[in-house]
Amino acid sequence: MQIFALTFVVLSLVSTSFAKECPKIVTQKVFDVTKYVGLWYEAYRSDIIFEVGSRCVNATYSPNPDGSVAVWNQAVNLLDEYTSIRGTARVKNASEPAAFVVTFDNPIQKGDYNVLTTNYDDYALVYACRTVPILDVKLEFIWFLSRKKTMSPGTVNELKKILSDMGADVNSITQTEQNC
Ligand SMILES: *[C@@H]1O[C@H](CO)[C@@H](O)[C@H](O)[C@H]1NC(C)=O
Ligand SMILES: *[C@@H]1O[C@H](CO)[C@@H](O)[C@H](O)[C@H]1NC(C)=O
Repeated sequence: MQIFALTFVVLSLVSTSFAKECPKIVTQKVFDVTKYVGLWYEAYRSDIIFEVGSRCVNATYSPNPDGSVAVWNQAVNLLDEYTSIRGTARVKNASEPAAFVVTFDNPIQKGDYNVLTTNYDDYALVYACRTVPILDVKLEFIWFLSRKKTMSPGTVNELKKILSDMGADVNSITQTEQNC
């Protein structure tokens, strides 16, 4: 769930067989952030270098008085250590209430956080994409969030279909271990 600054290491993991432009995305039009906050488990994610080997990942969102959302991500890393990071999510433009930018202070990071679809009670599909012009590749960040530690295969397939219809690469999406 952490969006770190780009490094060239990331690029080696990126599939270049897909279109190199980020797809046009549509975030959830009617979005009630008060129903969205709370605890989410990371059920699936795309291959993202800074999350490699991390498991038992969850995110806790809580409303801030100024309308932004406090983000608290927790995980167990590759070395079996507990890690956590805090940040803030802000809506970019009130006309698109499910399109956020998340910033973290330590280490400093910033990234998009687009809720493509959620029913608040079970699942959320979160997506971000960046292009790297010089290298002519795109980096896709995909998270399937679940209120439970698991996600039903039916939901997983539905979310993958949304992504592939949109033109995203679903090949690197893998289940996150929640064995803690
Ligand atoms: C969230 O994740 C952290 C790190 O894996 C874990 O210690 C904590 O118990 C989890 N919280 C819940 C409510 O499962
Ligand atoms: C916000 O969205 C509206 C409608 O799409 C657009 O007209 C406006 O320029 C946007 N504002 C900013 C600051 O991007």
